[in-house]
Amino acid sequence: MKQVSSDFLWGGATAANQLEGGYQEGGKGLSIADVMPGGKQRMKIIHDPTFDFELHEEHSYPNHEGIDFYHRYKEDIALFKEMGFKTFRMSIAWSRIFPNGDETQPNEEGLQFYDRVIDELVAQGIEPLVTISHYEMPLHLAKHYGGWRDRRLVTYFERYSRVLFERYQGKVKYWLTFNEINGAQFMPMLSLGIAVREEENTLQLTYQGLHHQLVASALATKAAREIDPSMQIGCMLIAAPVYPYSSNPDDVWYAHDAERMMNFFCGDVHVRGKYPSFAKRFFEENGIELAMEDGDLDILKENTVDFFSLSYYMSRTEKAEKGQDEAEGNIMSGVKNPYLQASDWGWEIDPTGLRVILNKLYERYELPLFIVENGLGAYDQIESDGTIHDHYRIDYLRDHLKGMMDAIEDGVEVMGYTSWGCIDLVSASTGEYSKRYGFIYVDRHDDGTGTLERKRKESFFWYQDVIRSQGASLYEEESVK
Ligand code: BG6
Repeated sequence: MKQVSSDFLWGGATAANQLEGGYQEGGKGLSIADVMPGGKQRMKIIHDPTFDFELHEEHSYPNHEGIDFYHRYKEDIALFKEMGFKTFRMSIAWSRIFPNGDETQPNEEGLQFYDRVIDELVAQGIEPLVTISHYEMPLHLAKHYGGWRDRRLVTYFERYSRVLFERYQGKVKYWLTFNEINGAQFMPMLSLGIAVREEENTLQLTYQGLHHQLVASALATKAAREIDPSMQIGCMLIAAPVYPYSSNPDDVWYAHDAERMMNFFCGDVHVRGKYPSFAKRFFEENGIELAMEDGDLDILKENTVDFFSLSYYMSRTEKAEKGQDEAEGNIMSGVKNPYLQASDWGWEIDPTGLRVILNKLYERYELPLFIVENGLGAYDQIESDGTIHDHYRIDYLRDHLKGMMDAIEDGVEVMGYTSWGCIDLVSASTGEYSKRYGFIYVDRHDDGTGTLERKRKESFFWYQDVIRSQGASLYEEESVK
């Protein structure tokens, strides 16, 4: 019987800006997420060269209310406990702790909110897994410093991280520095707070910003080790195998190159402590010149991560000559893979891809892997008796968890699995409530209506069984369709 070990960290994952709400409570400053409009055009709007960081009347801003976790965290944590969570992945909103980002003293009220949440988790026996920055940097840093293009953010981030490590030492063991750090390669605004203007070189700004984040991550890792050596610091990347569309060697090379840029460029700096060999040519061919300070390369080399965490939603398929058959995707998109079905949002579903990428990452880095995001965004229907039968979500998760179990049998070390959006929350890419990932339904809708009441979906009880049986129940009967 396939089962994971008893110390496996089962749980769920969230991000502050997508669930907390309370966007102006407790002295919080605005973050970039607070000026991101709801709707399918969200990514297009924020990555437009004219994006102005302002609130506009014609838009709605669902992150302002989120699902009101700010006031309902106790009730939600009780539901996580009921499901059997061993861990809960949350992020801290930087703008609650440093409202503008560049202050020298933290906002005590902001810290007190996280004291309450973390204490509640600990009291319930749930290990907090904390992301320090998850697509929610203080707006002031994006607007007035130009985001991570400015070197001063390294100092501000290090200061912010130190405050958290000092405050939560002994309570929080597992930390992630930047959510999906490699997402910057596809979304400079969401990841780096960089609005690329018409006349600017996107790649130059992106890789300079990334260099700053990588140095900041290494400095935070250093700080954590000084403050509490028992802390475990992980990097966090969007992971996806990239398949060649055909056996045409041009497609094979194109896919190989895309795969290493996506999965290994940041991964190598975080784990091996240096830029990969292929970076040099990439920088030269794209006119990228990184400004570095003396000592940067040593900082990267000396402060590598303890574990590697990843999000996995889909694989990607590439061909050298693209046509009209592009696929939708979580941030990055390739061409459509004829062997795969897609979600209602066009994200291709590929459980085997999870096994593939886990093997690739482990073979390259030989560090414990932690799947900190995976899940299906779907429309849910409430039946007349109030139940929600999300068998499509159960099927998706079961297949992916089996992919993970296979990888473990292949010899890959996996520390844990936290399903994305364990409670319905605001979508990052579209700002929709209707794109639901949760085991717990939240009565909130795209038009802003809803009571915020929480309801257990069918998947809630299914996941409870998976955790209780350490994965063995995955191999029992199929869900009722
Ligand atoms: C990841 C992000 O890229 O995907 C999450 O880290 C995000 O913040 C998740 O919510 C799912 O994406 P979406 O756009 O469906 O919310």
